[in-house]
Amino acid sequence: MERSVNVTVVYYSSTGTIHRIATEIAETAEKAGAEVRLVRAAELAPRAAVDSRPAWAEHLKATEDVPIAQVDDVLWGDAVLFGTPTRFGNMSAQLKQFIDTLGPAWFQGRLANKVYSAFTSGGSTHGGMETTIVSIYNMVCHFGGIIVPPGLNENPYGTSHVLGSDSAPVSEIALQSARVQADRVVRVARALKEA
Ligand SMILES: Cc1cc2nc3c(=O)[nH]c(=O)nc-3n(C[C@H](O)[C@H](O)[C@H](O)COP(=O)(O)O)c2cc1C
Repeated sequence: MERSVNVTVVYYSSTGTIHRIATEIAETAEKAGAEVRLVRAAELAPRAAVDSRPAWAEHLKATEDVPIAQVDDVLWGDAVLFGTPTRFGNMSAQLKQFIDTLGPAWFQGRLANKVYSAFTSGGSTHGGMETTIVSIYNMVCHFGGIIVPPGLNENPYGTSHVLGSDSAPVSEIALQSARVQADRVVRVARALKEA
């Protein structure tokens, strides 16, 4: 019988794009037989900033029941996927703040030997989505983690959705990419657990 694997999806999303991709990844991992935790990095922006954009305020309200990411969620995962909007070619401050809380776990070697993968979205095709993903993979090297990118796919580094108009749903291309990525992460995490 296949061994169960734990998959944690840690994401930050201001207006819902990354939340949509994170949900697709979580559902795909579940279908592949994984136990899944879907958790969000806490909002750090001042209330006035959130309220200045209706889509941001609405999304925050709509996802208030999604548990806030804790260090234990990462420790629990055999595989951890990080999702963030691209911010100036980098990850969001909200996700980075959460990752910085992993310091003691890192120091004790408890982040090592897990599978890690990352996904993002951005306003423009050449707006730095790959540098965002690589900035996450840089940290994974420090963790001693095993980077599992999707490889031959829409973006070999990690699912990367380019936003259309404000109301456009996440593209099927990005969702397909998310499924490929999630499947591969589960397969590799399971193989490592069984080795
Ligand atoms: C402060 C800020 C910086 C951004 N920087 C970039 C960027 O460097 N490249 C890019 O393509 N999009 C950039 N964007 C657009 C966001 O990536 C986009 O709004 C986000 O991917 C939407 O994801 P969400 O709906 O999950 O919040 C930026 C947006 C903000 C607010």
